[in-house]
Amino acid sequence: MNACVGQVFPGKDKGFFRWLEYNDKALSLSSYPLTPGRPAKKTRTMSRPLVAYIDIAAMQHNLSVVRLNAPRSSIWAVIKANGYGHGLERSVRAFIDADGYALTEIEAAVHLRDLGYRKPLLLLEGFFSEHELPIIAHYDLDFAVHSEEQLAMLETKVGAPRLKVHLKMNTGMNRLGFHPKDFRAAYDRLKALQSVQSISLMTHMANAEVLAHQRLPVSEQMRRFEEGARGLDASRNLSNSATVLLHPEVFSNWVRPGIMLYGGTPGGRTAEEFGLRPAMTLTSGLIQILDVAEGEAIGYGSTFVAPHPMRIGVVACGYADGYPRSAPEGTPILVDGVRTRLVGRVSMDMITIDLTPIPQAGYDSTIVLWGEGLPIDEVAEAAGTVGYELMCALSMRPHIVER
Ligand SMILES: Cc1ncc(COP(=O)(O)O)c(C=O)c1O
Repeated sequence: MNACVGQVFPGKDKGFFRWLEYNDKALSLSSYPLTPGRPAKKTRTMSRPLVAYIDIAAMQHNLSVVRLNAPRSSIWAVIKANGYGHGLERSVRAFIDADGYALTEIEAAVHLRDLGYRKPLLLLEGFFSEHELPIIAHYDLDFAVHSEEQLAMLETKVGAPRLKVHLKMNTGMNRLGFHPKDFRAAYDRLKALQSVQSISLMTHMANAEVLAHQRLPVSEQMRRFEEGARGLDASRNLSNSATVLLHPEVFSNWVRPGIMLYGGTPGGRTAEEFGLRPAMTLTSGLIQILDVAEGEAIGYGSTFVAPHPMRIGVVACGYADGYPRSAPEGTPILVDGVRTRLVGRVSMDMITIDLTPIPQAGYDSTIVLWGEGLPIDEVAEAAGTVGYELMCALSMRPHIVER
């Protein structure tokens, strides 16, 4: 990453022209059309220096970490929410070696089929109305069934045995699924339907990032699962990233990792400790550098007051780009590889940072908001959230550059 950024902003002389070239590249690859409805034009115009680099090789590497940890399982690569903010089609391409893709949006699944993707696609929340069932059958989508309402809708459908159902059990998370005591009956009702081709068994772990959670450990969820699924000889699809990484005792015919594929940690250990590489590196540049005197306040609300004379940098990145407004003073930022911190409130288009420890910082400096050199999970923790949210909240505005 740093090598790449170094090429982009090599210095003041040639830097400007390299910067224009770089922006050509960014604009031509951007998923954000400058004129709505028209493709981004390859013009030499100035544009905001905010770029999210998406590292396809890192995503492929992370998929190989899943294989390493679940060598006997098939993999549903979870690509919901626009591939956790990394781009739907880009994620499908990066995880082309996965055995299938899991998502929540039927429109996205249909889009992938229309593009010619033939691998299994699993709708994690199933269907929301019976009108979706013909689409699901036509596009050959696997889907979860988690409620009595869905089951009742399926019972009204007569048709060729095409439907691939993943019956979900609520093993304690109390979000979606049938209670273990009702599971067998739900299974039998599905089994009796002419339209159902196959039934897999599914559950979701609430606390797998903790080895032995006090209230609801994985072992208890598995005990409930085994009880509810007793006697059912069917494929199982149970494991999210944390289960894959921390609970090898859970065997799942298919695993459903999400966050680890994008290089974020599900918790328990750092992404690096799990051998994961960040897929998204959000970088920007300085658009103003100013010296402020002791006692001067910075930004909206004047919440931060300089305790001594300070050099402040204004970075082109704000909450409209997906940077969390909740990020407090002290949230880490990298400037040319050196750690510094956010000061003052995050605004819509900008943040302000302390440049005092980096006197050499200038307009050609590279600012890393998160990614290589600065784990997204660390920034998320400072902002009181998780890496998942930061990735998913990346807005349409940053330019996207694959590398
Ligand atoms: C049903 C289901 N399976 C799998 C996943 C992937 O979880 P993770 O990103 O923690 O691996 C999710 C994510 O929320 C989910 O809702």
